[in-house]
Amino acid sequence: MTQTLTIIRPDDWHLHLRDGELLAGTVPATANVFGRAIIMPNLTPPVVNLAQAQAYRQRIMAQVPAGVEFEPLMVLYLTDNMQPQEIADAAASGIVYGAKLYPAGATTNSDSGVSDPSKIFPLYEALEKHGIPLLLHGEVTDSDIDIFDREKYFIDRHLGVIREQFPALKIVFEHVTTKEGVDFVKANGRLTAATVTPQHLMLNRNDLLVGGVRPHHYCLPILKRREHQEAIQAAVLSGHTQFFLGTDSAPHARNAKEAACGCAGCYSAPAALPLYAHFFDTHGALDKLEAFASQFGPAFYGLPEHNDTVTLIKKDWQIPATQHIAGVEFTPWQGGETIRWCLAD
Ligand code: NCD
Ligand code: ZN
Repeated sequence: MTQTLTIIRPDDWHLHLRDGELLAGTVPATANVFGRAIIMPNLTPPVVNLAQAQAYRQRIMAQVPAGVEFEPLMVLYLTDNMQPQEIADAAASGIVYGAKLYPAGATTNSDSGVSDPSKIFPLYEALEKHGIPLLLHGEVTDSDIDIFDREKYFIDRHLGVIREQFPALKIVFEHVTTKEGVDFVKANGRLTAATVTPQHLMLNRNDLLVGGVRPHHYCLPILKRREHQEAIQAAVLSGHTQFFLGTDSAPHARNAKEAACGCAGCYSAPAALPLYAHFFDTHGALDKLEAFASQFGPAFYGLPEHNDTVTLIKKDWQIPATQHIAGVEFTPWQGGETIRWCLAD
């Protein structure tokens, strides 16, 4: 008999939908499965105020397929020049659910990010006061720090201080990639959490670099050595409440990834939930998928769980090798690979 798995409808707590014509492909890819998603604001130009968040939200809603219920949870992009009032306005709107700190230069479209995370304390104060979570790209960008150590240095230099100075602030350590990050989250209670991507669960830096460079596995923060991957896996497989699903699905055109200077980001949305199911199944922990995908995130953000479900089927499924959106070719992450789970319909 075919094995199926029905879980409460999940949410994606870290997602890049991009903008313009691409929304016609990226929005359905997520909205057909996930009920809500935290929409990352690293557009060009970035989403730095409420008016921009409202307009972006409308462009997203226009691409939600008929009959599908999907709520984009909008995010403000923190900058050196942002005024605390911007955060107060965003909080009052009811459509903004987070503020993203990108250290300037840390990743794709982060040029207008924060030049020094220790210089925007009035913004953290406003976030704490208005109950808006701080979402962190937790990497330093100093040129003398090795790329594999950037996350660890961010924790030592910034995260500890922010956590201590703003005890009531909700903090999400986005796309955690190191044992140090995992340990920090575990040690800091209910107001500190982390999102976990499929690639950081399933791969380590050998998968990126041994036998040839795999540009489709290149994302930031970069894949780390196996002991870090194992720390992330252990936290998730143990059912720790502070670790939940955030794909960091981040589409770049195939030719921009397969290039002499390839872009960072894995477009995982087309197969996201089956990929996580495959991972949990591989580790004999399918019973832990639902809480990770559908319960820990809402509990952290103070939102209700969905009252409908999605069903997965245990069946070999080949992830599509390519997807065209608005005439542009994208390679879904793990495209062409066969995994053991797929969606029921
Ligand atoms: C993301 C993107 O392309 O927007 N890239 C990535 O490698 N994860 C940005 C980000 O989340 O760092
Ligand atoms: Zn991201």
